[in-house]
Amino acid sequence: MARSFFYGFRTRLLMLFLFTTLFGLVSIHLIITSSNSVTQYEPRPAPRRESSGVFHDAKAHPEFAPKETKLKALVGLPKYAPPTSSIILIRALGNALPPRHSTNQTLDNLDFILAHEDSFPNTTRHWFVNRFVDPEMENQVLDRLRKAQESYTVIPFDLQIYDKIEYAYDQIPKDQIHLPTTRRITKKEVHLAEGQIQHNKILYVINVNGVRNAMLDYGRTHSNAEYILPWDGNCFMTRNAWSSIQSSLAENPQARYFKTPMDRLQESNEALLSDTYEPKPVEEPQIIFHRMARSNFNEQLRYGRRNKVELLVRLGVPGPWDKWSWLDSETAISDRAHAFDAVGDVPIAGWITRLNSGTFLAERSAKARGRLRNKAVTLLLERLDFRAARDLYGLTSSTLLFFNEKRLLVERAEWKAGKRKQIFRELVRLADQALLAGPWSVMDKKKFGCGISGDCHDYFHPSPYMWPQRNESGHTDWSKPFKRRDGVRAPGTSLFSSGSEQYDRSGLAAMKYNTTLLALAYSLTDNKAYVEKAASNLRHWFIHNATRMNPHLTYAQVKWKADATAVGSSYGLIEMKDVYFFLDAVKIVEKSEALSLLERDSMREWFADYLEWLVSSLQGQQEFVQDNNHGLFYDVQVAPIALYTGNIALALSRMQRSASRLLTHINTTTGVLSQELIRPTCEHYQAFTLQGWANMARMSRKIGLDYWGRFRDKATNQSILCQAMRYANPYLQKREICPGNSHSEDVRRWWPLLVDFSQHCQQPSNEGLLNVSDWIPSALRNPDIDRYLMPPMYDYGDGIAPFWNLGYHW
Ligand SMILES: *[C@@H]1O[C@H](CO)[C@@H](O)[C@H](O)[C@H]1NC(C)=O
Ligand SMILES: *[C@@H]1O[C@H](CO)[C@@H](O)[C@H](O)[C@H]1NC(C)=O
Ligand SMILES: *[C@@H]1O[C@H](CO)[C@@H](O)[C@H](O)[C@H]1NC(C)=O
Ligand SMILES: *[C@@H]1O[C@H](CO)[C@@H](O)[C@H](O)[C@H]1NC(C)=O
Ligand SMILES: *[C@@H]1O[C@H](CO)[C@@H](O)[C@H](O)[C@H]1NC(C)=O
Ligand SMILES: *[C@@H]1O[C@H](CO)[C@@H](O)[C@H](O)[C@H]1NC(C)=O
Ligand SMILES: *[C@@H]1O[C@H](CO)[C@@H](O)[C@H](O)[C@H]1NC(C)=O
Ligand SMILES: *[C@@H]1O[C@H](CO)[C@@H](O)[C@H](O)[C@H]1NC(C)=O
Repeated sequence: MARSFFYGFRTRLLMLFLFTTLFGLVSIHLIITSSNSVTQYEPRPAPRRESSGVFHDAKAHPEFAPKETKLKALVGLPKYAPPTSSIILIRALGNALPPRHSTNQTLDNLDFILAHEDSFPNTTRHWFVNRFVDPEMENQVLDRLRKAQESYTVIPFDLQIYDKIEYAYDQIPKDQIHLPTTRRITKKEVHLAEGQIQHNKILYVINVNGVRNAMLDYGRTHSNAEYILPWDGNCFMTRNAWSSIQSSLAENPQARYFKTPMDRLQESNEALLSDTYEPKPVEEPQIIFHRMARSNFNEQLRYGRRNKVELLVRLGVPGPWDKWSWLDSETAISDRAHAFDAVGDVPIAGWITRLNSGTFLAERSAKARGRLRNKAVTLLLERLDFRAARDLYGLTSSTLLFFNEKRLLVERAEWKAGKRKQIFRELVRLADQALLAGPWSVMDKKKFGCGISGDCHDYFHPSPYMWPQRNESGHTDWSKPFKRRDGVRAPGTSLFSSGSEQYDRSGLAAMKYNTTLLALAYSLTDNKAYVEKAASNLRHWFIHNATRMNPHLTYAQVKWKADATAVGSSYGLIEMKDVYFFLDAVKIVEKSEALSLLERDSMREWFADYLEWLVSSLQGQQEFVQDNNHGLFYDVQVAPIALYTGNIALALSRMQRSASRLLTHINTTTGVLSQELIRPTCEHYQAFTLQGWANMARMSRKIGLDYWGRFRDKATNQSILCQAMRYANPYLQKREICPGNSHSEDVRRWWPLLVDFSQHCQQPSNEGLLNVSDWIPSALRNPDIDRYLMPPMYDYGDGIAPFWNLGYHW
């Protein structure tokens, strides 16, 4: 998979030859003529650990600080030519990771090295161009290497491979991701959890130990050098450093491994060129391998997670890491025994300078480095996820997320050809009714007062069991706290019930459903009247100053108690959950050009403001961490809004991260939705919640994420969602789901779920008891065709999109 190039290899050899020859002559000459000053040029002995003397600033890693301070005495190479060890210095050039590095670090430092690093006798160098994600950057790097006639190897980045590698959202308990209100965890724990989730993606993209091993391999198989230096790309070798390394190699011919402590440059790179530059090699060392050394780096350790230290530990190199604790998963992949061929001590060999990363703060503080590194990695993965969604799946902010556009086109062709009349006729019938309804606005409640806030533009709805009080003349008195009557819904809090016109929930639902029917009917029939009407509904609810809703749900499900502020609860946010299909309708309207560009912008601005509120308000944050269906429906809401408003990274991450809720939401072994099983209307919540997962799964297919197949119980390897379906769907088992508290649900609400099930799940084994075919209605056995025979509209509370059976495609 790695392409190798050997540009100008012969030229380099020739130059090397000339240099060594010349060097030999000059040195001999010096020995003859200036024997009295030999001491000044004596090669510096390798630093010895036991010797005394304080090396300034050696606090961080004192054991690596060369204890002798006469580094300055060593200006230039020794003036006679002792035999040197042959070495190959191989460096990995990789993606700069802002904000940890400046964007230019890779190019800047490469330029610096090519301009200022000497050719040393018996020393060759080679480069690994490691998984550049940006082709433009890779070209610039390759250009420079070619011009300088360097030899190099490219390890390419492949977006398809990247995309197939999975995040481990289902391996980490939800608590560690969705910052809990109940259990405080430290930032460090959060970062660690994030890293574990990203682990496999990081291993591939950053490939830190992968490239190190590839460099080692290259040194062993493509060069005769006695010592291999598979080092980080920003390492710069001064003459002094080289000499010092050479003398240590010469002094320790038996050693298989050497540690070369790192000097982290705090100044700009040019400082290195000054005669007065004093290295401070106190940082985690690079490692030199004798070509007979057999240990490799552990490729299971990711960037930022002790990838080099793990080998140092195996080599028995003492260091601050002796006090570090390791994760079980890391202990499991490292045997921690001495590397089998490490012979006694691992000597120090010189030092190396790490060129400046362009972010001075990070160079000074290890803590800042860690923080910026985590941030940088997350940003890089977000960029790549975005690229994969765009380039591999064609996702844009106008992509329909719930309905499948191609499938809708097929259905439009069928309509034109006069097929599938029943379901199409039903859609047209309802759309014709919708032509006569609406428009709806939060101002419609004005004649009943404007609710708690007094601003009619605020969406307002009391919590169902909280009863607003009346004044003496029988009018609602919004200035008084509500009274709780458990289990008895206050008048008007049921959708479309009489009295509901004093609140906004019914208007919002009617607006969303009617507008969606109009948009779908337009996409089927091409009849402009439908989409014009849909556009006018949108203007009225979202755009026009006189009638628009303010973009927040602060007063949804208000529980105003005497001792508390009169705002809504987090649960009220679920009243906007239908955006997963509604925003598809909005996009259909936009594409029809029934909205002007300005109006289009207003719509997107409205949702951007609402999204801002959704993620930053206390109510939003509380909803986010709910363990039951509310947390899930929060994601079902945030993802499509984020996509619509162009916050693609957030859209992708909500679809990916929702998987982390599976673990706390569903018993992965049994498929029991335990949070929902205890609800008084248990059967409803089983179906409702599974429908939420099905909706999430349907959206996530648009980014190549298969919720049904991907997330499995570790022990049984059964799909978690399929298990949950087998447990709860009355068609798939004989038991009563919620003995004693079923609420005579319309059993047909399980049909859309059965269609999903038959598409994605293996039929349950009959265990000698039941033949599945007996349980699944014959009309449902061929879901590809028969789903059109199922009801297109269900009860609003069922969480099933209107005409869910159109534009359905996997
Ligand atoms: C180069 O290194 C080899 C050992 O790898 C050594 O035998 C030889 O003398 C060295 N050549 C020079 C010019 O130092
Ligand atoms: C990075 O390089 C570009 C082009 O060489 C230059 O314009 C830009 O200022 C550099 N940025 C930094 C932070 O050095
Ligand atoms: C009750 O509220 C209504 C509407 O706000 C108001 O018109 C009426 O004057 C109030 N009656 C009393 C007795 O406060
Ligand atoms: C459309 O709006 C009307 C009038 O508000 C309402 O009665 C009806 O239920 C709505 N249709 C749908 C499908 O929601
Ligand atoms: C709507 O309100 C905004 C902000 O108050 C104002 O800038 C704008 O001019 C108004 N538009 C119309 C048509 O009244
Ligand atoms: C899942 O259900 C099984 C069987 O009832 C039970 O043993 C297990 O503890 C449950 N798992 C969790 C996480 O509650
Ligand atoms: C789990 O099942 C899936 C689907 O059948 C299969 O692709 C995968 O290899 C299985 N995994 C294991 C660990 O058996
Ligand atoms: C299950 O029932 C179907 C139709 O009722 C029948 O064709 C099939 O053979 C049965 N399968 C088993 C395993 O009994």
